[in-house]
Amino acid sequence: MRKAIIAGNWKMNKTPSEGVKLVEELKPLVANADCEVVVCVPATNIYAVGQAIKGSNIKLGAENVHWAESGAFTGEISADMLLELGVEYVIIGHSERRQYFGETDETVNKRTLTALKKGLTPIVCVGETLEEREGNKTEEVLKVQLTEGLKGIEDLTKIVIAYEPVWAIGTGKTATSEQANETIGFIRKTLGELFCEKCAAQVQIQYGGSMKPGNAKELMAMEEIDGGLIGGAALKAEDFAGIVNYNK
Ligand code: 13P
Repeated sequence: MRKAIIAGNWKMNKTPSEGVKLVEELKPLVANADCEVVVCVPATNIYAVGQAIKGSNIKLGAENVHWAESGAFTGEISADMLLELGVEYVIIGHSERRQYFGETDETVNKRTLTALKKGLTPIVCVGETLEEREGNKTEEVLKVQLTEGLKGIEDLTKIVIAYEPVWAIGTGKTATSEQANETIGFIRKTLGELFCEKCAAQVQIQYGGSMKPGNAKELMAMEEIDGGLIGGAALKAEDFAGIVNYNK
């Protein structure tokens, strides 16, 4: 049985004090969650939020990590910097990074391998654009993202995959639970071919894209869907908790 994992992706939202306020509100609301609860926060919030969630069941995540150990990479953050602040998870290859910051399958792969080597759990994002879905290219696109992005990984069960159809992010358009389940099933099948069936059956695959308290239960009931990567709804304690407690 795969354990569900609900992670918030705060993106470029919340100052450190606003972030602390949010997790203070969140702590009691998610204290009895059956799933893993993660907040992936802006780099500037990692320290303060990390302090605030100490002793709670909320785990700390970052939104990016560089592949190099250290060095002349202005504006980037290393795995060691994250680890020292208690970070356990890191989002890699979010579609916004691919769209606006030149992230490619190759850089996703380098970041993922470094995160794994350092003991961080990468949340690797994949997903197709509207044009690609309408052109019947979804499976082809995902296969390339998975093949190239996950190349060289030794233990697939150490990563989390987030399937985020780009057309469903921040648009209010959710993939139907059947669409999400079917595509995640395809991702799992592909991972079985690329790695091994047993590890593909174990890897947690999240859905992301306009997930809310109102649709979480239906999405989470689907066999292939093991969690959610939540954008907008992660910015309000009540909404995020409503998703985390989807089964209550
Ligand atoms: P929304 O939940 O705002 O659609 O964002 C999804 C997302 O991009 C999470 O990484």
